[in-house]
Order: sequence, then structure tokens, then C-alpha cells
Amino acid sequence: MNNTSTQPGTGRNASPYLYGSEQAAVARVLAGGHYGHTRIVDEFEESVARFLGVPDAIAVSSGTAALHTALVAAGVTTGMDVIVPSLTFCATIQAILHCGARPRFAEVDPATLCLDPASVLDALTDSTTAVMPVLYGGRAVDLRPIRALLTERRITVIEDAAHAFGSYHGLHPVGATGELTCFSFGPIKNLTCGQGSMIIPRSAGEAHTIRELRQIGVVDTAAQRAASTTYRVTTAGFRYQMSALNAAIGGAQLAHFATTAAARRQLWRHYQSALSGVSGAALVDVDVDHSVPHLAVVKVPARDRVWTLMREQGIGVGVHYPPNHLQPAFAPWRRPLPVTERISRQILTLPFHQHLTGDDIHYVVSALQQALKETGAHP
Ligand SMILES: Cc1ncc(COP(=O)(O)O)c(C=O)c1O
Repeated sequence: MNNTSTQPGTGRNASPYLYGSEQAAVARVLAGGHYGHTRIVDEFEESVARFLGVPDAIAVSSGTAALHTALVAAGVTTGMDVIVPSLTFCATIQAILHCGARPRFAEVDPATLCLDPASVLDALTDSTTAVMPVLYGGRAVDLRPIRALLTERRITVIEDAAHAFGSYHGLHPVGATGELTCFSFGPIKNLTCGQGSMIIPRSAGEAHTIRELRQIGVVDTAAQRAASTTYRVTTAGFRYQMSALNAAIGGAQLAHFATTAAARRQLWRHYQSALSGVSGAALVDVDVDHSVPHLAVVKVPARDRVWTLMREQGIGVGVHYPPNHLQPAFAPWRRPLPVTERISRQILTLPFHQHLTGDDIHYVVSALQQALKETGAHP
């Protein structure tokens, strides 16, 4: 087996991309000696809110923490149902379980791998309190066909926008569509803080609740705490605030986001054009004109064999995701999802990150073509 890629950029399916200013920003925080919630975190929140054109944004320690906090803030608790696509990272499901709620697994549209509105209707119960669309690969999810019904039933939409920082839903940036939205700024996301996330609340009241929850129930600011012999704990809460070290990385990254967005779109279009001549591999559409793509995923026959052949060439292919309704931990909430089960045997994630060159992409696509030939899927 040959694990040494001749195209170095292709060895991993994802990789963080730094611009250089991140190191200096972290060094300044380290030298300052305050690593918890500081003014740097407030400034990062303000700059993300400005970038999206929304009144407020709340930083937390991870995308998983954001989903959990948003669910709690929306009143989701024990005995309630939350509709969620099975085809997502397991973190989405764990966040629901953290609240004591039940995941109601739903299907995705095979063309986009995003939540299928018809399947949401099918999954509805009298206990449904929230729906969590996952913006797969960076693509906005269109729930307009069922929006009126969700509003009528007072069902909250909480967007898992872990993949979708910078993307648009029509004319509005994701996060500015009026839904409660959670981004992830994990190591390989469109924008990275190292580890971190931003929640976009729907109202000032919701923002207050989220700030209480993320800081172990303490709402007093650092300045208030410094000026007093006590502090107030006003609710049960979590240790979910973002460190100033992570916010410094995020702030530095945000300053370069226009470059990030353009580079990711260009790389995705490169795949689109290189794959157009490959019969047997269908690129999952991310609506690149409106999205900052996070993944390049193809549907192929004999996926496991293709995965093995490409790994043998040292190419970092992956699978996003093994379906959650078939995971042992989530067995109590299993329901038949034939579309998801079929698609999950076809999807293959190709290397997609800003270190890739056009040559890397051609190398990956040639290797894919060769693998498809070996499996008999490409003439
Ligand atoms: C779809 C999705 N949801 C949630 C998360 C969790 O985000 P984090 O890793 O920041 O906790 C991820 C992270 O990969 C993800 O891909």
C-alpha cells in the first residue's frame, strides 16, 4: 500500500488555513495574561454581528455547545421531540440528548443532502418542539414550504450552520434570516477559532438567556465582578464561554474572510469542472453562487471500494456522515430512513481545503476516475 501522496495537498480531506496574523493575535492575548472572557471576545462578537448585519452574536466554546445552549434557550427539555436529519455529525444529536429531548430522525433531499421538508412533516409528533436543519456542505436549507405550519405549531427552527459561515439564503446571509443559528468555528471550518462557535439569537431577551447559560449562570461582567465582593448566579448554566485566545484567532481570520470565501468557491468550481467528464461520480450540489462551500462530496457506486483505492493512493477521502439513526447510542430513536441509508452507502468526501491547488484537484479527480474504472463504474 502506498500512503505517500505525490500531491502533498491531497493527503487530508480537510485542513485549517491560517493567514499569519493569527499567531500575533494569540501572542498578544498570552502576553496580556487574561485568557477567559475578555474584551477580545466582545470585540469578536461585535465584528461577526457587523459582518452578518445582525444586532447581536454570542460566542461559545464549540458548535456542540452552541447547539445545546440554543436548544435550552428555546425551551427544549425532557420529553420533547426535535426533528433532525440523520445525515449529520453526531454532535447535532448529542446536543439534543443533552437537553433530555428525543431526536426524531428525518430524511434528506438526495440532490443536496439537506433536510427534506416532506420528511419533516412525516416526522412531526404532538411533542415536536424544534427542527434542526443542518446546512450540509455550506448550503442554506429552504424550509419555506413548511414555514407557516412550523410557526402555527410554535416549533422553533434552530439552524445547525456549522458548515455555513459566509453562505447566503437568497439575499440574506445565513444567520440573518431570522432563525436561531449556530455556527462552528472548529479547526477545519470555513472560519476557525481553533475551537469555538457563534450563536445568532432572535431577540435581545434570547441573547440575555444565552449569555446567562454560557457563563455558568453568572451574568455579571468582569468589571462588575471586579468592583464587588460577590456575584449573582441567576440560573443553571454551563461552562461554555469562549476563551480570549480562541476569539483572537477568529478575529484575525474574519479580517481575511473575503479571501477565504473566494478561494473556497474557486476550488469547488474547479472540482465541478474537473468532475463534469467523470461518469459514475455525481458532485453533491452546494449552490456555490450563494454558499461558501465547506465540503466537496460525490456520490459513487461501490463507495467502500473506491474509498479504499483512493486511500491506497494516499488521498484523504472521507465520509460525511455515517447515518446517526444506525448508531448504537441512538438506537432507541431509530426509524426506517431508506433514502438516507442508500445515500450513506454512496457518499465520498474529497479533499477540500485552502491548501489545495488546481493540480491537486486534477490529481484527486484522476485517481477517482481510475478507481471508478477499477470498480467497473467508469468506462
Ligand atoms: C454538522 C455539524 N454540526 C455540529 C458540529 C459541532 O461543532 P464543533 O466541532 O464546533 O463542536 C459539527 C462539527 O464538525 C458539524 O459538522
